[in-house]
Amino acid sequence: MKTIVSGIRSTGNLHLGNYYGALRNFIKMQHENRCFFFIADYHSLTTHPNPNDLYPNVKSVLTDYLAAGLDPEAATIYIQSDVPEVTELYLMLNMHVYLGELAKTSSFKEKARKQPENVNAGLLTYPTLMAADILLHNADEVPVGKDQEQHLEMTRRFARRFNNFYGTEYFKEPAAYSGGGELVKIPGLDGSGKMGKSEGNCIYLCDDEKTIQKKVMKALTDQGPTEMNSPKPDYIENLFTIMKIVSSPDTVEYFDEKWNKCEIRYGDMKKQLAADIIAATAPIRERILEINANPDILHRAISLGRDKARESAQKTIKEVREIMGFRRF
Ligand code: TYM
Repeated sequence: MKTIVSGIRSTGNLHLGNYYGALRNFIKMQHENRCFFFIADYHSLTTHPNPNDLYPNVKSVLTDYLAAGLDPEAATIYIQSDVPEVTELYLMLNMHVYLGELAKTSSFKEKARKQPENVNAGLLTYPTLMAADILLHNADEVPVGKDQEQHLEMTRRFARRFNNFYGTEYFKEPAAYSGGGELVKIPGLDGSGKMGKSEGNCIYLCDDEKTIQKKVMKALTDQGPTEMNSPKPDYIENLFTIMKIVSSPDTVEYFDEKWNKCEIRYGDMKKQLAADIIAATAPIRERILEINANPDILHRAISLGRDKARESAQKTIKEVREIMGFRRF
Protein backbone atom coordinates (compact mmCIF):
# COMPACT_ATOMS: atom_id res chain seq x y z
CA MET A 1 0.00 0.00 0.00
CA LYS A 2 1.37 3.41 -0.95
CA THR A 3 1.26 6.56 1.13
CA ILE A 4 -0.22 9.50 -0.76
CA VAL A 5 -0.06 13.09 0.49
CA SER A 6 -1.47 16.22 -1.09
CA GLY A 7 -2.69 19.63 -0.06
CA ILE A 8 -4.14 22.91 -1.21
CA ARG A 9 -3.48 26.39 0.17
CA SER A 10 -6.44 27.93 1.96
CA THR A 11 -6.57 31.08 -0.10
CA GLY A 12 -10.14 30.79 -1.40
CA ASN A 13 -12.39 28.40 -3.24
CA LEU A 14 -11.11 25.58 -5.43
CA HIS A 15 -10.92 26.12 -9.17
CA LEU A 16 -10.74 23.82 -12.19
CA GLY A 17 -6.90 23.83 -11.99
CA ASN A 18 -6.92 22.52 -8.41
CA TYR A 19 -9.50 19.90 -9.26
CA TYR A 20 -8.08 18.54 -12.50
CA GLY A 21 -4.44 19.13 -11.50
CA ALA A 22 -4.49 17.46 -8.10
CA LEU A 23 -7.74 16.69 -6.33
CA ARG A 24 -9.31 14.40 -8.91
CA ASN A 25 -6.27 12.12 -9.01
CA PHE A 26 -6.17 12.03 -5.25
CA ILE A 27 -9.85 11.07 -5.06
CA LYS A 28 -9.24 8.18 -7.45
CA MET A 29 -6.54 6.81 -5.14
CA GLN A 30 -8.14 7.32 -1.76
CA HIS A 31 -9.68 3.88 -1.31
CA GLU A 32 -6.66 1.75 -2.12
CA ASN A 33 -3.91 3.70 -0.36
CA ARG A 34 -2.91 5.38 2.88
CA CYS A 35 -4.00 8.88 1.97
CA PHE A 36 -3.54 12.26 3.63
CA PHE A 37 -5.13 15.41 2.25
CA PHE A 38 -4.74 18.67 4.11
CA ILE A 39 -5.55 22.37 3.93
CA ALA A 40 -2.34 24.38 3.92
CA ASP A 41 -3.30 27.28 6.18
CA TYR A 42 0.26 27.92 7.44
CA HIS A 43 1.31 28.31 3.82
CA SER A 44 -1.40 30.90 3.25
CA LEU A 45 0.28 33.20 5.83
CA THR A 46 3.03 34.20 3.39
CA THR A 47 0.72 36.82 1.90
CA HIS A 48 -0.43 38.18 5.30
CA PRO A 49 -4.17 37.45 5.04
CA ASN A 50 -6.58 39.31 7.29
CA PRO A 51 -7.09 37.14 10.44
CA ASN A 52 -10.84 37.41 9.92
CA ASP A 53 -10.48 35.60 6.60
CA LEU A 54 -8.42 32.64 7.81
CA TYR A 55 -11.25 30.51 9.21
CA PRO A 56 -13.81 31.17 6.43
CA ASN A 57 -11.15 30.37 3.83
CA VAL A 58 -10.30 27.06 5.47
CA LYS A 59 -14.01 26.30 5.72
CA SER A 60 -14.71 26.95 2.07
CA VAL A 61 -11.74 24.85 0.93
CA LEU A 62 -12.86 22.02 3.19
CA THR A 63 -16.40 22.26 1.81
CA ASP A 64 -15.08 22.07 -1.76
CA TYR A 65 -12.83 19.10 -0.89
CA LEU A 66 -15.70 17.08 0.49
CA ALA A 67 -18.09 18.15 -2.23
CA ALA A 68 -15.58 17.04 -4.87
CA GLY A 69 -15.61 13.53 -3.42
CA LEU A 70 -12.92 13.27 -0.75
CA ASP A 71 -14.11 10.61 1.65
CA PRO A 72 -13.17 11.31 5.29
CA GLU A 73 -13.66 7.63 6.17
CA ALA A 74 -11.10 6.58 3.57
CA ALA A 75 -8.61 9.45 3.48
CA THR A 76 -7.22 11.40 6.41
CA ILE A 77 -8.39 14.97 5.86
CA TYR A 78 -6.92 17.60 8.14
CA ILE A 79 -5.96 21.22 8.59
CA GLN A 80 -2.21 21.82 8.52
CA SER A 81 -2.22 23.98 11.67
CA ASP A 82 -4.03 21.21 13.60
CA VAL A 83 -0.84 19.16 13.26
CA PRO A 84 1.88 21.43 14.67
CA GLU A 85 4.45 18.61 14.38
CA VAL A 86 4.90 19.82 10.81
CA THR A 87 6.56 23.00 12.11
CA GLU A 88 9.14 20.98 14.02
CA LEU A 89 10.04 18.97 10.95
CA TYR A 90 10.18 22.24 8.97
CA LEU A 91 12.70 23.62 11.47
CA MET A 92 14.82 20.47 11.37
CA LEU A 93 14.85 20.28 7.58
CA ASN A 94 15.69 23.98 7.33
CA MET A 95 19.06 23.27 8.97
CA HIS A 96 19.99 21.34 5.84
CA VAL A 97 18.46 23.69 3.28
CA TYR A 98 20.51 26.49 1.79
CA LEU A 99 19.74 30.09 1.01
CA GLY A 100 21.11 29.82 -2.52
CA GLU A 101 18.79 27.00 -3.56
CA LEU A 102 15.74 28.61 -1.94
CA ALA A 103 16.38 31.96 -3.59
CA LYS A 104 16.57 30.25 -7.01
CA THR A 105 13.10 28.65 -6.73
CA SER A 106 10.75 29.88 -9.48
CA SER A 107 7.78 30.38 -7.15
CA PHE A 108 9.91 32.48 -4.79
CA LYS A 109 11.25 34.66 -7.60
CA GLU A 110 7.74 35.18 -8.95
CA LYS A 111 6.25 36.06 -5.55
CA ALA A 112 9.16 38.38 -4.73
CA ARG A 113 8.46 40.19 -7.99
CA LYS A 114 4.73 40.41 -7.26
CA GLN A 115 4.99 41.50 -3.62
CA PRO A 116 8.33 43.36 -3.31
CA GLU A 117 7.13 45.00 -0.10
CA ASN A 118 6.73 41.62 1.63
CA VAL A 119 9.56 39.24 0.73
CA ASN A 120 9.44 37.43 4.06
CA ALA A 121 11.43 34.40 5.26
CA GLY A 122 8.27 32.25 5.13
CA LEU A 123 8.06 32.93 1.41
CA LEU A 124 11.70 31.94 0.99
CA THR A 125 11.35 28.73 3.00
CA TYR A 126 7.95 27.82 1.51
CA PRO A 127 9.49 24.74 -0.22
CA THR A 128 10.85 23.48 3.12
CA LEU A 129 7.40 23.64 4.71
CA MET A 130 5.96 21.84 1.72
CA ALA A 131 8.69 19.17 2.00
CA ALA A 132 7.83 18.85 5.71
CA ASP A 133 4.14 18.31 4.82
CA ILE A 134 5.10 15.48 2.52
CA LEU A 135 7.88 13.87 4.55
CA LEU A 136 5.81 14.06 7.75
CA HIS A 137 3.92 11.01 6.47
CA ASN A 138 6.81 9.65 4.39
CA ALA A 139 4.81 9.84 1.16
CA ASP A 140 5.46 7.70 -1.91
CA GLU A 141 3.41 9.89 -4.22
CA VAL A 142 2.05 13.42 -4.28
CA PRO A 143 -0.78 14.28 -6.70
CA VAL A 144 -0.03 17.81 -7.93
CA GLY A 145 -0.23 19.96 -11.03
CA LYS A 146 2.73 20.96 -13.18
CA ASP A 147 3.34 24.18 -11.21
CA GLN A 148 4.46 22.13 -8.18
CA GLU A 149 7.02 20.04 -10.06
CA GLN A 150 9.99 22.05 -8.84
CA HIS A 151 8.81 21.88 -5.22
CA LEU A 152 8.63 18.10 -5.50
CA GLU A 153 12.16 17.95 -6.90
CA MET A 154 13.30 19.99 -3.90
CA THR A 155 11.46 17.67 -1.51
CA ARG A 156 13.32 14.71 -2.98
CA ARG A 157 16.60 16.56 -2.70
CA PHE A 158 15.97 17.47 0.95
CA ALA A 159 14.99 13.88 1.75
CA ARG A 160 18.13 12.54 0.06
CA ARG A 161 20.31 15.08 1.82
CA PHE A 162 18.87 14.20 5.23
CA ASN A 163 19.39 10.50 4.58
CA ASN A 164 22.97 11.03 3.42
CA PHE A 165 23.88 13.32 6.29
CA TYR A 166 22.54 11.02 9.00
CA GLY A 167 23.55 7.79 7.25
CA THR A 168 19.99 6.49 7.08
CA GLU A 169 17.39 5.46 4.51
CA TYR A 170 14.61 6.97 6.59
CA PHE A 171 12.84 9.25 4.13
CA LYS A 172 11.50 8.01 0.80
CA GLU A 173 11.91 10.23 -2.25
CA PRO A 174 8.30 11.06 -3.18
CA ALA A 175 7.20 11.30 -6.80
CA ALA A 176 4.83 13.91 -8.23
CA TYR A 177 1.77 12.03 -9.48
CA SER A 178 -0.47 12.96 -12.38
CA GLY A 179 -2.55 9.82 -12.88
CA GLY A 180 -0.18 8.29 -15.42
CA GLY A 181 0.90 10.83 -18.03
CA GLU A 182 2.45 14.29 -17.84
CA LEU A 183 1.69 16.64 -14.96
CA VAL A 184 -1.29 18.80 -15.87
CA LYS A 185 -1.44 22.55 -16.26
CA ILE A 186 -4.93 23.99 -16.67
CA PRO A 187 -4.64 27.29 -18.51
CA GLY A 188 -6.54 30.50 -17.84
CA LEU A 189 -9.24 31.69 -20.24
CA ASP A 190 -7.61 35.10 -20.45
CA GLY A 191 -4.77 33.88 -22.63
CA SER A 192 -2.46 33.27 -19.67
CA GLY A 193 -0.65 29.98 -19.23
CA LYS A 194 -2.13 29.05 -15.87
CA MET A 195 -5.46 29.21 -14.14
CA GLY A 196 -4.71 30.49 -10.65
CA LYS A 197 -6.14 32.38 -7.72
CA SER A 198 -3.50 35.08 -7.85
CA GLU A 199 -3.99 35.38 -11.62
CA GLY A 200 -7.70 36.16 -10.98
CA ASN A 201 -8.78 34.07 -13.99
CA CYS A 202 -10.44 31.10 -12.33
CA ILE A 203 -13.56 29.10 -12.90
CA TYR A 204 -14.43 27.95 -9.41
CA LEU A 205 -16.10 24.65 -8.56
CA CYS A 206 -18.78 26.65 -6.71
CA ASP A 207 -19.51 29.02 -9.64
CA ASP A 208 -23.12 28.80 -10.78
CA GLU A 209 -24.13 28.11 -14.38
CA LYS A 210 -24.55 31.75 -15.36
CA THR A 211 -21.16 32.70 -13.94
CA ILE A 212 -19.45 29.85 -15.80
CA GLN A 213 -21.18 30.82 -19.04
CA LYS A 214 -20.17 34.45 -18.60
CA LYS A 215 -16.54 33.60 -17.87
CA VAL A 216 -16.22 31.23 -20.80
CA MET A 217 -17.94 33.59 -23.25
CA LYS A 218 -15.44 36.28 -22.28
CA ALA A 219 -12.44 34.04 -23.08
CA LEU A 220 -9.84 35.65 -25.31
CA THR A 221 -10.21 34.77 -29.00
CA ASP A 222 -9.50 36.48 -32.35
CA GLN A 223 -10.87 36.76 -35.91
CA GLY A 224 -10.20 33.07 -36.57
CA PRO A 225 -7.58 31.35 -38.72
CA THR A 226 -7.01 32.48 -42.29
CA GLU A 227 -4.93 29.53 -43.46
CA MET A 228 -5.97 25.87 -43.39
CA ASN A 229 -4.23 23.67 -40.79
CA SER A 230 -2.38 26.57 -39.22
CA PRO A 231 -0.95 26.26 -35.71
CA LYS A 232 -3.16 27.64 -32.95
CA PRO A 233 -2.05 30.66 -30.94
CA ASP A 234 -1.63 29.95 -27.22
CA TYR A 235 -4.91 31.54 -26.14
CA ILE A 236 -6.85 29.30 -28.58
CA GLU A 237 -4.83 26.24 -27.63
CA ASN A 238 -5.87 27.01 -24.04
CA LEU A 239 -9.55 26.61 -24.94
CA PHE A 240 -8.79 23.28 -26.56
CA THR A 241 -6.76 22.15 -23.54
CA ILE A 242 -9.72 22.72 -21.22
CA MET A 243 -12.06 21.13 -23.74
CA LYS A 244 -9.89 17.99 -23.85
CA ILE A 245 -10.41 17.65 -20.11
CA VAL A 246 -14.14 18.30 -19.77
CA SER A 247 -15.59 17.34 -23.18
CA SER A 248 -15.84 14.13 -25.16
CA PRO A 249 -13.10 13.30 -27.71
CA ASP A 250 -15.71 13.66 -30.49
CA THR A 251 -16.44 17.23 -29.45
CA VAL A 252 -12.77 18.13 -29.43
CA GLU A 253 -12.26 16.51 -32.81
CA TYR A 254 -15.25 18.38 -34.25
CA PHE A 255 -13.91 21.82 -33.28
CA ASP A 256 -10.36 20.86 -34.21
CA GLU A 257 -11.57 20.01 -37.70
CA LYS A 258 -13.47 23.29 -37.90
CA TRP A 259 -10.28 25.09 -36.92
CA ASN A 260 -8.23 23.27 -39.54
CA LYS A 261 -10.76 24.15 -42.25
CA CYS A 262 -10.94 27.80 -41.10
CA GLU A 263 -14.63 27.30 -40.30
CA ILE A 264 -14.49 27.64 -36.56
CA ARG A 265 -17.13 29.78 -34.83
CA TYR A 266 -15.80 30.66 -31.43
CA GLY A 267 -19.27 31.46 -30.11
CA ASP A 268 -20.33 27.85 -30.75
CA MET A 269 -17.16 26.46 -29.29
CA LYS A 270 -17.51 28.54 -26.13
CA LYS A 271 -21.16 27.58 -25.69
CA GLN A 272 -20.21 23.92 -25.90
CA LEU A 273 -17.26 24.38 -23.56
CA ALA A 274 -19.39 26.20 -20.98
CA ALA A 275 -22.05 23.46 -21.17
CA ASP A 276 -19.43 20.75 -20.66
CA ILE A 277 -17.80 22.54 -17.72
CA ILE A 278 -21.25 23.01 -16.16
CA ALA A 279 -22.05 19.32 -16.63
CA ALA A 280 -18.69 18.22 -15.20
CA THR A 281 -19.00 20.38 -12.08
CA ALA A 282 -22.77 20.21 -11.41
CA PRO A 283 -22.61 17.28 -8.95
CA ILE A 284 -19.94 19.14 -6.95
CA ARG A 285 -22.09 22.28 -6.79
CA GLU A 286 -25.09 20.29 -5.59
CA ARG A 287 -23.02 18.74 -2.86
CA ILE A 288 -21.64 22.15 -1.80
CA LEU A 289 -25.22 23.28 -1.17
CA GLU A 290 -25.91 20.14 0.85
CA ILE A 291 -22.82 20.67 3.00
CA ASN A 292 -23.61 24.35 3.53
CA ALA A 293 -27.00 23.30 4.85
CA ASN A 294 -25.40 20.76 7.19
CA PRO A 295 -22.04 22.07 8.48
CA ASP A 296 -21.78 19.13 10.86
CA ILE A 297 -20.38 17.19 7.90
CA LEU A 298 -17.29 19.45 8.08
CA HIS A 299 -16.79 19.02 11.81
CA ARG A 300 -17.12 15.26 11.58
CA ALA A 301 -14.59 15.04 8.73
CA ILE A 302 -12.03 17.14 10.57
CA SER A 303 -12.40 15.41 13.89
CA LEU A 304 -11.94 12.06 12.12
CA GLY A 305 -8.81 13.30 10.33
CA ARG A 306 -7.03 15.34 13.00
CA ASP A 307 -6.15 12.45 15.30
CA LYS A 308 -5.09 10.12 12.49
CA ALA A 309 -2.84 12.82 11.02
CA ARG A 310 -1.28 13.62 14.39
CA GLU A 311 -0.61 9.97 15.13
CA SER A 312 1.31 9.59 11.87
CA ALA A 313 3.12 12.91 12.41
CA GLN A 314 4.13 12.13 15.99
CA LYS A 315 5.61 8.81 14.95
CA THR A 316 7.75 10.55 12.31
CA ILE A 317 8.89 13.29 14.67
CA LYS A 318 9.87 10.76 17.32
CA GLU A 319 11.93 8.79 14.81
CA VAL A 320 13.52 11.87 13.24
CA ARG A 321 14.49 13.17 16.70
CA GLU A 322 16.20 9.86 17.42
CA ILE A 323 18.05 9.91 14.09
CA MET A 324 19.24 13.46 14.76
CA GLY A 325 20.52 12.59 18.23
CA PHE A 326 17.90 14.09 20.53
CA ARG A 327 17.56 12.09 23.74
CA ARG A 328 15.26 12.45 26.75
CA PHE A 329 16.92 13.22 30.06
P1 TYM B 1 -2.10 25.45 -4.65
O1 TYM B 1 -2.94 25.70 -3.47
O2 TYM B 1 -1.66 26.61 -5.46
O3 TYM B 1 -2.79 24.44 -5.59
C1 TYM B 1 -3.27 23.20 -5.11
C2 TYM B 1 -3.07 22.11 -6.14
O4 TYM B 1 -3.70 22.48 -7.35
C3 TYM B 1 -2.78 22.42 -8.42
N1 TYM B 1 -3.04 23.50 -9.38
C4 TYM B 1 -3.09 23.31 -10.69
N2 TYM B 1 -2.95 22.20 -11.44
C5 TYM B 1 -3.09 22.33 -12.78
N3 TYM B 1 -3.36 23.51 -13.39
C6 TYM B 1 -3.52 24.65 -12.68
N4 TYM B 1 -3.81 25.78 -13.28
C7 TYM B 1 -3.37 24.58 -11.26
N5 TYM B 1 -3.47 25.49 -10.26
C8 TYM B 1 -3.24 24.81 -9.12
C9 TYM B 1 -1.41 22.60 -7.78
O5 TYM B 1 -0.40 22.03 -8.58
C10 TYM B 1 -1.58 21.88 -6.48
O6 TYM B 1 -1.37 20.52 -6.64
N6 TYM B 1 2.26 24.52 -2.47
C11 TYM B 1 0.98 23.97 -2.80
C12 TYM B 1 0.18 23.52 -1.59
C13 TYM B 1 0.91 22.53 -0.76
C14 TYM B 1 1.12 21.16 -1.07
C15 TYM B 1 1.88 20.64 0.00
C16 TYM B 1 0.76 20.35 -2.14
C17 TYM B 1 1.49 22.79 0.44
N7 TYM B 1 2.07 21.64 0.89
C18 TYM B 1 2.27 19.29 0.04
C19 TYM B 1 1.15 19.01 -2.11
C20 TYM B 1 1.90 18.51 -1.03
C21 TYM B 1 0.19 25.06 -3.49
O7 TYM B 1 0.42 26.22 -3.32
O8 TYM B 1 -0.82 24.58 -4.24
